[in-house]
Amino acid sequence: MPARARILIVDDERYVRESLSEMLSAEGYACAVAGSLSEALEQLGPSGAQVVVSDLKMPGGDGIELLTALRKQGATLPVLMMTGVGTVSDAVRAVQAGAYDFLQKPVDVEQLLLQLARAVEHQALVSEVKSLRDRTRDASPHREIVGSSPAIARVRELIEQVAATDATVLVTGESGTGKELVAEHIHRKSPRASRPLVRVNCAAIPSTLFESEFFGHRRGAFSGAVADRVGRFAEAQGGTLVLDEIGTLPPEMQAKLLRVLENGEYQVVGESRTRIADARVLALTNEALPERVQRAEFRADLFYRLNVFPIAMPPLRAHKEDIAAIAGVSLEGIVGRRGLGAELSTRLAADALEVLCSYDWPGNVRELRNVIERAVILAGGRELDAALFRALLEPSFSVSGATASDDCHLRRNLDALEKQLIQRALERCEGRKKEASGLLGIDARNLGYYLRKHGLADAPPRA
Ligand SMILES: Nc1ncnc2c1ncn2[C@@H]1O[C@H](COP(=O)(O)OP(=O)(O)OP(=O)(O)O)[C@@H](O)[C@H]1O
Ligand SMILES: [Mg+2]
Repeated sequence: MPARARILIVDDERYVRESLSEMLSAEGYACAVAGSLSEALEQLGPSGAQVVVSDLKMPGGDGIELLTALRKQGATLPVLMMTGVGTVSDAVRAVQAGAYDFLQKPVDVEQLLLQLARAVEHQALVSEVKSLRDRTRDASPHREIVGSSPAIARVRELIEQVAATDATVLVTGESGTGKELVAEHIHRKSPRASRPLVRVNCAAIPSTLFESEFFGHRRGAFSGAVADRVGRFAEAQGGTLVLDEIGTLPPEMQAKLLRVLENGEYQVVGESRTRIADARVLALTNEALPERVQRAEFRADLFYRLNVFPIAMPPLRAHKEDIAAIAGVSLEGIVGRRGLGAELSTRLAADALEVLCSYDWPGNVRELRNVIERAVILAGGRELDAALFRALLEPSFSVSGATASDDCHLRRNLDALEKQLIQRALERCEGRKKEASGLLGIDARNLGYYLRKHGLADAPPRA
């Protein structure tokens, strides 16, 4: 049984929306509906759905436009696209544009449930991978909070104020703004610093295992409990427990968590005695919890209990003056690790900063770090300049524009796309082939082959 994931159903036909919503709610999903592209985008704020099920063909903006708009905002949630019967080219188009999967109308219920369960699991894994990657990337055991803007100075000040106390902290902010980093700093500066810092990603725990994950279980407590298991509260005893993605906690678990937070008591699954928890709790979320409280999806009492000391992380676009420093530190880190073909001399060109500052960074500091890392790889030891960043920051290429919509011929379509990408790379590098091959990610020696294949090889000067 999937955790109570939130699904947004988008379809211009009311009948379809309502029947799907009814059916999925009965299966334990929390459903919202939208009748058009604009309605869907309105609903998909930071606390929006975890998975979208959208019709492909709708008047006033189709499913692919919705997908494109979401990706542009930096949202990575999976989208399941519903297409008409027999319209295979539509399905291909949807998947090419980045849909997680497609299903044909009329929707087969069993299939939809299966796809949804997979999509929810996929989303939890994506967030886990993001977090692990961040931590391996920040190779140094002590990751610093970089930035001297007033917004970041304020965050530092709040950390200083709250670290010494045992208060529960609620860190909110968009994805990639540094919530985990803040949690780490609070722990390090707290009297509990020499005790464990334990992190739980609430989005990645199947709902049946929550209790055992949080509180532990005794061997034989339920089928599958083949050995004793220490819960996260026990692991964090004397230290700090970070509850990441707290907004995804299912209602039953919200109640149980509230109980431990209020009186410190909990029970190991399969044990009757009461244990006393001694873990300082830091909760993180990129969702607007007050709105979810209003919609009765998140317990108001738990929200107030967590929100004792709120810290709101600013999006990177609100403190662009820190971009230079963060980019610099990221670059140092990457070059220091080497192994990426980066040379010690790799540096940012003077004109690069302007491009970095003109971008909105929907993925915040994480995205900035990723872009720097990609730039280092592409530059192969040269300076990271404005042209390189311009190429990297362009909205991702949409396949649908390159292909005729009802032509499904795979080779023909891929060839057209290949040609377009090569032309684009050449234009961007003003014809410098070595650089173009860098952008294309191919060996410079192979570029000649592609140029001839598509009739782009140096033509004799036109008469
Ligand atoms: N001010 C900062 N200075 C240096 N690095 C930062 C800063 N803010 C964020 N980072 C880095 O950006 C990456 C993402 O940060 P973090 O994992 O804390 O984000 P998050 O808010 O938890 O995002 P999500 O909600 O997606 O989990 C990490 O590599 C982190 O070290
Ligand atoms: Mg995080």
